[in-house]
Amino acid sequence: MLKVAVCVSGGGTNLQAIIDAIDNKTITNTEISVVISNNPGAYALERAKKHGIEAVCISPKEYADREAFNQAFLEKLDSYQVDLVVLAGFLVVIPEIMVKKYKNRIINIHPSLIPSFCGTGYYGLKVHEGVLKRGVKVTGATVHFVDEGTDTGPIILQKAVLVKQDDTPEILQRRVMEEAEWKIMPKAIDLIANGKVKVVDHKVVISE
Ligand code: GRF
Repeated sequence: MLKVAVCVSGGGTNLQAIIDAIDNKTITNTEISVVISNNPGAYALERAKKHGIEAVCISPKEYADREAFNQAFLEKLDSYQVDLVVLAGFLVVIPEIMVKKYKNRIINIHPSLIPSFCGTGYYGLKVHEGVLKRGVKVTGATVHFVDEGTDTGPIILQKAVLVKQDDTPEILQRRVMEEAEWKIMPKAIDLIANGKVKVVDHKVVISE
């Protein structure tokens, strides 16, 4: 059984997609051990509690500096002894020490087709604003392992989504979630839980 920690900062629709996929067995061999948020007001915490999943908040504001927070965050995560850390709309930069300790065991969802519209400054609606500004006709989402860079880790799954002429950033964000994020994140977890994902030379190889 793959033990998973899901880290969240906001609404938690990706968390919900994971919970639902475990319930309807689209994801197998997996249990969510804990949901961790940096934001006490995150609705994602309510979603976890409603489902009987342990929900904890660890806020940077409660620590003297970033170093102290990073240390506490790592200790908290370690205490659950999980196999995989899923970043599902988590707006905290993962400390390098954690990336090293959990090498190829942290995955993130990014709402564009990496390497487009990613890296520093591209988060949330800013990604979709960038897509509309550039006028690309296809965007999408990417699930990738987290490495020391920003959105530079090995890519696990991607799914394309069409951009429509009248899209606003909000409308496009919703379509990318519905058509791509909520599908490829559960799929990636299921592949990992069933031993089908390997990283070779910074690239993911999937055995189906
Ligand atoms: C998603 O768009 C995700 O790609 C991004 O943050 C958003 C999180 O949404 N990293 P939610 O909290 O899962 O609803």
